[in-house]
Amino acid sequence: MAQVLSARKYNARMTSSFQSYEASSLKTSWDKDDLLGRGSFGKARRCIHDQLGKVVAKCFKVEGLSVNKDKVMMNIEREMKVLYRLKHQHIVAIHGITEWSDCIGIIMEYVEAGNLDDCLWLQGDIKNVPLLLQLRFAHQISDGLRYLHHHDKKRSYVHCDLKPENILLTPDLMVKIADFGSVAIATATGATGGSFTITSTTQHTPFYTAPELLGNILSDKKPSMDVYRWERVFVFL
Ligand SMILES: Nc1ncnc2c1ncn2[C@@H]1O[C@H](COP(=O)(O)OP(=O)(O)O)[C@@H](O)[C@H]1O
Ligand SMILES: [Mg+2]
Repeated sequence: MAQVLSARKYNARMTSSFQSYEASSLKTSWDKDDLLGRGSFGKARRCIHDQLGKVVAKCFKVEGLSVNKDKVMMNIEREMKVLYRLKHQHIVAIHGITEWSDCIGIIMEYVEAGNLDDCLWLQGDIKNVPLLLQLRFAHQISDGLRYLHHHDKKRSYVHCDLKPENILLTPDLMVKIADFGSVAIATATGATGGSFTITSTTQHTPFYTAPELLGNILSDKKPSMDVYRWERVFVFL
């Protein structure tokens, strides 16, 4: 059952802004079985929720962290703020947030076939994706990006970390763009944030990063940088 979590000093703002789920309503095996992936800040776990059914919790460890806690909290907040504003068939859907004793989890839809990188390697020959499937992926990813860049009149979201590991697939091979932990707001649109601001990140995967950003990692993020990443993804197909 959804409810408002008890606020901690450092996450009060988030838990009052987002739909919260009781940790006890989410079942997961804390061993490898339900572990779907791990990144620099957290682990994605498959869970079963009483009402939502199969979901994913992207868990960020917060207890016991001394140095990185603010950075972790900033990352969770950035990802949640943006995902809450996005509703599109090619962008992973968010449900809300939960809190275990030592970690905070972003609850989102479970995209059952996993990420594009794993799917490609499982095929054995990474160069063997049929042309029609390549075109389908290209079209669906660009559809998701177009929405991300243009759906809001005031601002343009830039994903900043598009790569095969962050492109999820449903069992019928429908694309869902995921991992909004690096998202930025493009200043090119004239948006200054207003009531909505996020802190951008300086983390990037070099192979997919546009040359102008590699030259100056602090430069303004632009939608064209996602388009460069989109092209790089197809080097693999
Ligand atoms: N909603 C989801 N459904 C299925 N698998 C997911 C989902 N979210 C994440 N994963 C898996 O977990 C991995 C890591 O999640 P991601 O959001 O990319 O976190 P990180 O910021 O740590 O890279 C992904 O590459 C994917 O394999
Ligand atoms: Mg990722």
